[in-house]
Amino acid sequence: MAVDPLIELRDVNKHYGTLHVLRDINLTVGRGEVVVVIGPSGSGKSTLCRTINRLEPVESGTVLLDGRPLPAEGRALARLRAEVGMVFQSFNLFAHKTVLANVSLAQVKVRKRGKEEADRRSRELLERVGLLAHAEKYPAQLSGGQQQRVAIARALAMDPKALLFDEPTSALDPEMINEVLEVMQQLARDGMTMVVVTHEMGFARSAANRVVFMADGRIVEDRTPEEFFTAPESERAKDFLSKILKH
Ligand SMILES: Nc1ncnc2c1ncn2[C@@H]1O[C@H](COP(=O)(O)OP(=O)(O)O)[C@@H](O)[C@H]1O
Ligand SMILES: [Mg+2]
Repeated sequence: MAVDPLIELRDVNKHYGTLHVLRDINLTVGRGEVVVVIGPSGSGKSTLCRTINRLEPVESGTVLLDGRPLPAEGRALARLRAEVGMVFQSFNLFAHKTVLANVSLAQVKVRKRGKEEADRRSRELLERVGLLAHAEKYPAQLSGGQQQRVAIARALAMDPKALLFDEPTSALDPEMINEVLEVMQQLARDGMTMVVVTHEMGFARSAANRVVFMADGRIVEDRTPEEFFTAPESERAKDFLSKILKH
């Protein structure tokens, strides 16, 4: 399906001790595609995200970004890692730095931009996520939803080829979830390649090109949202959906 693969995992396996946490993972994410990953807690979703930008090494198999294998370490890895942005459940902003400084920091350190250029780019991105007016505030002065939008702006500031989101709205109060999902929807419409671990089924239905369902370290289903939600094939997926769609 994916004519122009940006992220490819081939026969990826990983253990934590005796726990086989990723089992024969084969996944291709095309350029501009949005893939939502869902599955029960402990199924390996976060580990999958971390292997894509090599926060975690794999034991066997290959991870390709834009056709190139991920380097094991060193400067090449740092460069490549910067090409895949990651947004976590916890926003991890620097508390003692302003919103603007949070977004500019890695641009200067990793992308070697001058401070003025970095700040200019940061302001553009803060505008894009609706937070330009808050540029001079500190993270603690913002709501959780606003902080997560800053974290998204910070990830975008590296001009990544793809963005990974690991349960970006799970730590948020309900009324703040939508403002974050709306920013993500807009990124999807703008053609950003995204892998999104989430339990927000509305987002999966409206923004995803594919839904990947994981259980016990395996990809059990990899289908369009329409197919997945209306006719899941596996018992595991049926069971999971019946549990999360109940509330
Ligand atoms: N650093 C680690 N060391 C040992 N076990 C881990 C580590 N990280 C995750 N695990 C285990 O691997 C399994 C998959 O974890 P994870 O990828 O976080 O799943 P998910 O994100 O789907 O909830 C879980 O059983 C978890 O306890
Ligand atoms: Mg997780």
